[in-house]
Amino acid sequence: MHPFRKREDRPFLIHRTEKRGINGRDQNETGSQPYFRRDSKTFHKHLGNNKLVKIGTIELPEFPLLLAPMEDVSDPPFRYVCKQQGADLMYTEFISSEGLIRDALKSRRKLDVFEYERPIGVQIFGGDMEAMVEAAKIAEAVHPDLIDINYGCPVKAVACRGAGAALLQDIPKMVKMTEAIVKAVSLPVTVKTRLGWDEFSLNIEDTAERLQDAGIQALTIHGRTRKQMYKGSADWTLIGRVKANPRMHIPVFGNGDLDSPEKVRQMRDRYGVDGVMIGRASIGYPWIFREIREYLSTGLSASAPDISHRVEVCKIHFQKSLEWKGDRTGIFEMRRHYANYFKGMDHFKEFRMRLVTADTPESVYEILEEVLRKYQEAFA
Ligand SMILES: Cc1cc2nc3c(=O)[nH]c(=O)nc-3n(C[C@H](O)[C@H](O)[C@H](O)COP(=O)(O)O)c2cc1C
Repeated sequence: MHPFRKREDRPFLIHRTEKRGINGRDQNETGSQPYFRRDSKTFHKHLGNNKLVKIGTIELPEFPLLLAPMEDVSDPPFRYVCKQQGADLMYTEFISSEGLIRDALKSRRKLDVFEYERPIGVQIFGGDMEAMVEAAKIAEAVHPDLIDINYGCPVKAVACRGAGAALLQDIPKMVKMTEAIVKAVSLPVTVKTRLGWDEFSLNIEDTAERLQDAGIQALTIHGRTRKQMYKGSADWTLIGRVKANPRMHIPVFGNGDLDSPEKVRQMRDRYGVDGVMIGRASIGYPWIFREIREYLSTGLSASAPDISHRVEVCKIHFQKSLEWKGDRTGIFEMRRHYANYFKGMDHFKEFRMRLVTADTPESVYEILEEVLRKYQEAFA
């Protein structure tokens, strides 16, 4: 039997939702914000016009907002809350091609994608051409909407093993690998990469054309080099040049340091990108997608989520973590998110300490209720 579950066999996370009973929401029922529900009438009315962005046959709204793939962050529980708040296209965390081929549990788990997440991309990385082709076929078998190739990861464990951003040092290999993957699967293939390896090899303009010629159907560019890692600030100038190249006809998405609706509008207007990808600013703040959409559509700033929204979404995130990971891992891995959900709140430290040491679902929910009561009173 094929090691990967068919779509019908995928876990459907509904059972424990019922048991936990957090506001009784169904897994399929995302979209708690009325104007963000994906029924097309509301949506297009909201956008004002109809310039869809296409990745192969996937139709995205005008100027789509993408959730960045983020290792240890953009797992199904996190994606759930981002989808609720209006992310238009999401990706799995990056998945090692070698891990997929070895059938390693960690890599295989990352292939869990759900119907309500569509459109969703599976991102793979690796330095070996055959392994990447094989991994792309394995990923295709779980029926995502697209396969994304990571040519941007800067971390040593990846880039020093010939994978991720390492391919920026060997463009002919990158192009060959891309061609082979495009040929091997029938889904659209996209790429996420950086400006170049370092300031002396800012090759993205040429690379973008070559990747397009290799058959990719969209390109996301993070405005940093590998050498920069995450330091300094992202430079969007070259992203703008790629977009302005008349030979480029696939969607070009910009990424790097977008942390407010105003900044997104600025980058859109200045560099003409087809959409943007948001990473760190969404961690603990999935509302960013809704706020950006609201601002781009109306010019008005949405009000920030109040404490009841923060607690509600944090609870949903926690609930999904328990469902997908089980209690032990779900509780443990949720700990990294609390500080972000309640960032900027006075005297939160004590609650955070309690949240990161609580070891049963009930105690976490209780503390979150306490947070709600305390801060509601404070603002009453
Ligand atoms: C914790 C973390 C994990 C990341 N994991 C991935 C990954 O798996 N694949 C990938 O292409 N990029 C990964 N990235 C990079 C982001 O996708 C994004 O390109 C980067 O954070 C810049 O965007 P931002 O300024 O909006 O965060 C990761 C970034 C962070 C902070």
